[in-house]
Amino acid sequence: MSSYVTRKTPGDTSWFTASRFGMFIHWGLYAMPARHEWVKTRERITEEKYDKYFKYFDPDMYDAKEWAARAKAAGMKYAVLTTKHHEGFCLFDSKYTDYKATNTPAGRDLVKEYVDAFRAEGLRIGFYYSLIDWHHPSFPIDHLHPRRDDENAKELNDGRDMKVYAQYMRDQITELLTNYGKIDLLWFDFSYDTPKDGPYANGWMKGKGKDEWEAEKLIALARKLQPGIMIDNRTQLEQDLWTPEQYQPLEWLRHKETGELVTWEACQTFSGSWGYYRDEMTWKSPEMLIRMLINTVSIGGNLLMNVGPTSRGYMDKRAVEALKVYEEWMKYNSRSIYNCTMAEPEFKAPADCRLTQSVDGKRLYVHLFAYPFAHLQLKGLAGKVDYAQFLHDGSELLFTEGKVDHFSEGAAKSEDLLVINLPAIKPNVTVPVIELFLK
Ligand code: GLC
Repeated sequence: MSSYVTRKTPGDTSWFTASRFGMFIHWGLYAMPARHEWVKTRERITEEKYDKYFKYFDPDMYDAKEWAARAKAAGMKYAVLTTKHHEGFCLFDSKYTDYKATNTPAGRDLVKEYVDAFRAEGLRIGFYYSLIDWHHPSFPIDHLHPRRDDENAKELNDGRDMKVYAQYMRDQITELLTNYGKIDLLWFDFSYDTPKDGPYANGWMKGKGKDEWEAEKLIALARKLQPGIMIDNRTQLEQDLWTPEQYQPLEWLRHKETGELVTWEACQTFSGSWGYYRDEMTWKSPEMLIRMLINTVSIGGNLLMNVGPTSRGYMDKRAVEALKVYEEWMKYNSRSIYNCTMAEPEFKAPADCRLTQSVDGKRLYVHLFAYPFAHLQLKGLAGKVDYAQFLHDGSELLFTEGKVDHFSEGAAKSEDLLVINLPAIKPNVTVPVIELFLK
């Protein structure tokens, strides 16, 4: 059994760490301008102008079943959908606002279709819910808000009452956690400090965190409605999940006070934006996509990979291609991902490799980021391996112990060395994996 123990938290994380790979979905009105989900505030767009998107939002090609099928084929085991993003628009039918999908040409509850379709495919259900809201009339203007540079910003802010907004969030969370059956994961986003310098350090623009969100109440409510649900830490109140974003951690994340290992999930995008961004061109290569998944699991984390569907409701060709990269690789190699974690400390990855190990401790996986010439030499593994094969085709890999079995007579032996003989040509797999059955 794996010797790693993570910090205990209130939610059920067992299904989550076994799953390792999920789909993030950022979808909202911002898919129409198609230039980042922060477009409203980046371009300081007025309500009146932004209402055009609301007026014409018509995802006529939205087929949640197709999304779910793609996620499943890619090897993803759960999904997290933006039920509401910072723009404030709700994909679900909420009693507490008119700013929702049912009042657009879409005319229906888009969250419900997502839940039904993903659940039918056997995927776990996550809801992203933005704490930030750039539409709600009670949400106080701050340095991130689209109205921050308006001449009358300060007056506009008068009478905005965070308490009213906090109640609104509780009402909506009640709807989300009552009307859609079992919800496995709740992803709040996010808290930030009051600016200390620059034009917005004016005394009245405030950051927002657990006190403003009334996070204790909000979370107690969520836990009452959905016992066992996992919740992230972005309300500023520590819960079950640490969420490093847009970077690859180098080590398993630890609790900042106790040093304990924590449950974590890296969230990443196929290109440089979460929402559909038509002209953004920094799409990741197939190798990079696969490596990011492996890197994450090799240090005990999950990967939540994002898709930003178009405003018509389908996943753009580039996203579909990227998902196919995972599909192709996971079809043959998922055994090194599911139910796997960081290898035990006694096993050290050779150059250009990443290790994972099955949680039961019986199998060790060596991922070859660069394909070596003729042999893979693994220190510390002699005497420990019973059988070796390529994972993708289950073909045997012969090995020797102590030394490379080829004109190395006369050279000193390295007792702990395991040498795997490899074919000269790299197999036709983006990242080949060697499966070692341990004694
Ligand atoms: C950031 C962004 C947001 C995105 C999120 C995903 O906090 O504000 O647009 O939804 O990261 O992790």
